[in-house]
Amino acid sequence: MSAFKGIKMGNAQVFRSAEALRNKIQSRQLVETVGLVPTMGALHHGHISLVNKAFEMCDCVVVSIFVNPKQFNNAGDLDKYPRMLEKDVELLKEAGDVLVFAPSVEEVYPKDYEEVQLDLADLGNVMEGRFRPGHFDGVVNVIKQFFEMVKPTHSFFGEKDFQQLAVIQYMTAAFDLPVEIVPCVIVREKSGLASSSRNVRLSEREKEEALVIFDALSKSKELSESKTISEVKAFVKELFSNSELELEYFQIVDPLTLQELKEWAPGAHACMAAFCGPVRLIDNMQLVAMKENQ
Ligand code: PAJ
Repeated sequence: MSAFKGIKMGNAQVFRSAEALRNKIQSRQLVETVGLVPTMGALHHGHISLVNKAFEMCDCVVVSIFVNPKQFNNAGDLDKYPRMLEKDVELLKEAGDVLVFAPSVEEVYPKDYEEVQLDLADLGNVMEGRFRPGHFDGVVNVIKQFFEMVKPTHSFFGEKDFQQLAVIQYMTAAFDLPVEIVPCVIVREKSGLASSSRNVRLSEREKEEALVIFDALSKSKELSESKTISEVKAFVKELFSNSELELEYFQIVDPLTLQELKEWAPGAHACMAAFCGPVRLIDNMQLVAMKENQ
């Protein structure tokens, strides 16, 4: 690793084409490791924590900002997705000397683009895969494409999207891609609400109401010591029936296979999605500690 590791110079240059970005990376000296942080923009503390992690581990940090049409199964959601490139670039300048890659849809998916097909098997048909059909096919396509365009040695993903992280790890192994996937912990607001680009669509009152999500996860963790899984699930259902949010799913799963657990096991993980008005929020938490050396 070069001596430039971790130096922050407070600059953020925006590239629209993959070729220009690669030329820039190649023109830099002593770059052995390239860290890619893929995002859809509307950046917040959660994204910035990934960027900071990338600076800790890599000589050169690329942040991609691209609202990927292929992963939205709801056209309204795609239209309403917040877009604020200038503000994002300002925020990234504070993080350090970042190369910002903000390509057009045509740059990412040229006319002759051939869709990648990957059978995600059981990983793909639960939770987000079940409620957002086609979503992970879109994520797999865009990330594989970004890995080919940017050629990173490392790429950083948040545990906030717990199933997405598992899918990316599965995809990287399935295609034998030469990229190290680095998981990053969930960043929360002081209140406990997980930071999300969608939070800007919530009013202050809705943000208060949305705290039932963190409450459900924290209480489930406490209850895992004394109650069964079905008792915890019944408790969460009840909690939501008394709230303004509509629970889409709450599942307690094995952290590797993401299949539902009937009994507590090391690493048992709760994952959930709920609607606060029209805004869909997801969150998750480890309920039971992993075994040593797991
Ligand atoms: P986006 O929602 O913009 O998130 C980009 C990355 O930031 C993801 O890895 C996500 O897990 C991480 N992230 C978001 N909120 C976080 C939080 N509160 N704490 C920690 N990490 C957080 O996820 C996507 O975009 C897209 O699906 C993408 C991977 C870019 C493919 O289009």
